[in-house]
Amino acid sequence: MKPDEELKQVAQEVSVCTRCNLHYSRKNAVPGEGPANAEILFIGEGPGFHENEQGRPFVGAAGKYLDDLLAKINMKRSEVFIANVVKCRPPGNRDPQPDELAACSEYLERQIQAINPRAIVTLGRFSMAHFLPNAKISEIHGQAMRVKGRLIIAMYHPAAGLHQRSLMSAIEEDFMRLPELIASHASQPDRQAAESADTTNNVREEKKEPKQLSLF
Ligand code: URA
Ligand code: SF4
Repeated sequence: MKPDEELKQVAQEVSVCTRCNLHYSRKNAVPGEGPANAEILFIGEGPGFHENEQGRPFVGAAGKYLDDLLAKINMKRSEVFIANVVKCRPPGNRDPQPDELAACSEYLERQIQAINPRAIVTLGRFSMAHFLPNAKISEIHGQAMRVKGRLIIAMYHPAAGLHQRSLMSAIEEDFMRLPELIASHASQPDRQAAESADTTNNVREEKKEPKQLSLF
């Protein structure tokens, strides 16, 4: 299947998915959006109130901040793909539960395979944990890591920056470094090697330390 067709297929399946309990309370599932050939894939946590209303990712306050951050690096939302680790809103914006994350991860993996991005930027600890289950975001944010051939850059969630002034400068610094970080680490052979590898970390792989590519 062509990438854009696969993304449409994932979105269609997500819209009627009943794999986890989050389907009971959702108004609209939020599969994610962006071009199939996006170079950067941003992955957030899950839909909040506004996203659940509209069926679109990052349309509330955190989304506006994300747009501002993208603007700082001369990027537009329409150039990047934005998805979440869970596609349906956890009631009251509670944390997604392990069974919900596990149930939803196949959709995210299919999106990653279809888009085959140069870099994946995780926003917040739940999307970081999809790739790096043992990492601490305070220790690795803004660094380039290689997980099964994919370039992963973990960042604080934009909502965390809105709530905690001290994190805002870290988020902005991490964003400003993003273009250079991607340019220096995203090589074509790695992307090709990654094309068929599932990036979900499971218990068997947890002990493996990710290769650290840069330290600031
Ligand atoms: N926060 C997220 O993690 N994802 C969204 O889509 C919106 C807010
Ligand atoms: Fe399905 Fe994911 Fe929604 Fe759960 S959160 S119902 S697994 S689409």
